[in-house]
Amino acid sequence: MPEIHYATSTGPVNIATLKYWGKRDKDLNLPTNNSISVTLDQNDLKTLTTASCSESFKEDHLWINGETYSLETPRSIQVLKDLRSLREELEISNNELPKISQFKLHIISENNFPTAAGLASSAAGFAALISSVAKLYKLPTDYSELSKIARKGSGSACRSLFGGYVAWEMGNLENGEDSKAIQIADRKHWPTMKAAILVVSDMKKDVPSTSGMQLTVKTSDLFQYRINEVVPKRYIEMKESILNKNFQKFAELTMKDSNSFHSVCLDSYPPIFYLNDTSKNIIKLINLLNEAAGKLIAAYTFDAGPNAVIYYEEENQDYVLGMLYKFFDKLDGWSNDKFNPANAKIFDS
Ligand code: PMV
Repeated sequence: MPEIHYATSTGPVNIATLKYWGKRDKDLNLPTNNSISVTLDQNDLKTLTTASCSESFKEDHLWINGETYSLETPRSIQVLKDLRSLREELEISNNELPKISQFKLHIISENNFPTAAGLASSAAGFAALISSVAKLYKLPTDYSELSKIARKGSGSACRSLFGGYVAWEMGNLENGEDSKAIQIADRKHWPTMKAAILVVSDMKKDVPSTSGMQLTVKTSDLFQYRINEVVPKRYIEMKESILNKNFQKFAELTMKDSNSFHSVCLDSYPPIFYLNDTSKNIIKLINLLNEAAGKLIAAYTFDAGPNAVIYYEEENQDYVLGMLYKFFDKLDGWSNDKFNPANAKIFDS
């Protein structure tokens, strides 16, 4: 019986505070702007993936939460091709290594959160796939290098290879060799930062991010203003706010960028709506909370879906979550067990 080689790894979810929205090259997933995200604790939202390979496997196979998915998509093909060629280089330089680069792969993944509901499932998924295959292939753990491969799978996945506060540098080169993720600061740098995920809906999103981005780039007038005038300055300021642990600035920039991203979605033609009425009420409540506190104590952000992520500092947790609970526990679809300060989904960033 031929040997089965395997390795297991996890991919965490990252939530952008400065959004990536727009591709300048669709095949290589090259973005039109720099972006920044916070990676949530590996113990919380994550994809757990085991990659195995063997001479006896007949084809590449992927299972996510027990269901079969194709690895024959252009993105998966590209990602596996890149990983295999890195392994092949190792095998050529070191004769002792087993020749496994051309064996078929079986990938088994489990998400502990809703798939494709605007909760960055593809980011965690590709990050877990790449880390598990990199481990299986014993590739050097240069995460910025691996992030270039992750990027080709799903743009935002490149940021999930790092913990803490992460930037995706858009780069300038046409071949994408300089479009990679780097760590701004690790998780320990700002230990009081917390994130709560408010699952407004676990339905699949209406407009997938790739087609949404294409539409925005093609049709939104506001989009050029966003990428040329708004994001470059915001990128520098947000990095500074993280390095200085300046929650006031970080919160302001995070909320403004979420608003800006959803504005270019609305400015697309036909418009794209990711926020629903509950999302809008969450925005109103966070604004009221901040007004009542006389300073910014909580920041909302929404990706390509109605679910909210609220960033706040630990000292304000009871107040922020208590108020959200008070206002939202009566809504349809919001049961106490889903949203009770005692067992709300709180994540260390
Ligand atoms: O990487 P994708 O194709 O899933 O796109 C992610 C887009 C946003 O989540 C809205 C923003 C971001 O930077 O993560």
